[in-house]
Amino acid sequence: MSTIKKLYTSVLPHVYAFFGRTCLPYFPSKISIESGNLCNLRCPLCPTGQQDKSAKKGFISFDLFKKVIDEIGQHLTMIRLYNWGEPTLNKDLLRMIQYAKERDIDIKISTNLSMKMEDDQIEALLKAGLEKIYISCNGASSETYLKYHVGGDFGLVMDNMKRLVQKKREIPGCHTKFVWLFHIFKHNEHEIETAKELAQIIGIKIKISKMRPDMGKEIFETTQKALERDKAWIPDNSEYTVVSTKRKKRIGCMLPWTETMINWDGSILPCCAVYSEKHAFGNILENSFKTIWNNEKYIAARKEILGMKNDKQTICHICKRSGYLHGG
Ligand SMILES: C[S@@+](CC[C@H](N)C(=O)[O-])C[C@H]1O[C@@H](n2cnc3c(N)ncnc32)[C@H](O)[C@@H]1O
Ligand code: SF4
Ligand code: SF4
Repeated sequence: MSTIKKLYTSVLPHVYAFFGRTCLPYFPSKISIESGNLCNLRCPLCPTGQQDKSAKKGFISFDLFKKVIDEIGQHLTMIRLYNWGEPTLNKDLLRMIQYAKERDIDIKISTNLSMKMEDDQIEALLKAGLEKIYISCNGASSETYLKYHVGGDFGLVMDNMKRLVQKKREIPGCHTKFVWLFHIFKHNEHEIETAKELAQIIGIKIKISKMRPDMGKEIFETTQKALERDKAWIPDNSEYTVVSTKRKKRIGCMLPWTETMINWDGSILPCCAVYSEKHAFGNILENSFKTIWNNEKYIAARKEILGMKNDKQTICHICKRSGYLHGG
């Protein structure tokens, strides 16, 4: 997609939101599609890790993925092919990446990389044409790593990172980028420098990021409440303070103008912070995306964010009340 078109698709939603438009004549250009919400790890602040039962469990089928791409693929520049689970567990992952890539859509995944991988699997992953692989690893030693990535294997993650970097060098024209995501918590803040050194040795980019409190609950509660409950995880250094308590200017959350989240079962949610499909705005197996994108729930959610009168409650009403992405 040309730079001008990319610029146009990123500016357009802001113009429509600024002028108070809630019925949108365009489709989002960047979306998330959940490859599946099952996982091999049990990270304590992730609803999947907690085995939260408020979402149905499963993997998206290739047919459903194809249906989405066939309907809105021409408008898409990028898909995050993950949300509440481990994307590498979906047996159709490579097929989905290839299908999107053939249509000039960039695909990103985030993985815990804590699984045994054969050489040919690593090679196939890199040859599929992924734009970016985020690798979640919140520790620079096995002991620290295991406090968050319960059930994982630090040595395996390090080894897989090295093999990815090495294999990429062997594949001519491979453009896949790797980013080691290191979220700062109380238990790992002392290992940031070691992690940076390790990343340099491996030859991988590292992103030191702020943690989120319990990710399945955060849109339902105030920042203050989340910080109190999860204080055992909050870093001591205030520089790494988790979430902003600053009030957002005018509009607040822009996501219902810019993005959408398609769950593995076809449910459409306004953003990736929502866990359960019971808050869905519709299902792409029942209606076209075109219909859902401007249905009464989406319009009510946009009106609520803009502070306009509306009469249908959505997850965005709850979220706005608790101040998530809107300032507390
Ligand atoms: C729920 S995970 C699913 C993808 C994959 N299983 C993984 O862990 O990378 C989606 C993203 O959430 C991030 N994540 C997990 N726990 C987090 C936390 N407490 N704060 C911020 N990000 C977190 C992960 O690093 C990952 O990029
Ligand atoms: S954060 Fe990722 S690796 Fe951890 S439990 Fe959730 S889905 Fe699994
Ligand atoms: S208002 Fe909240 S629930 Fe709605 S899209 Fe924004 S962050 Fe997600």
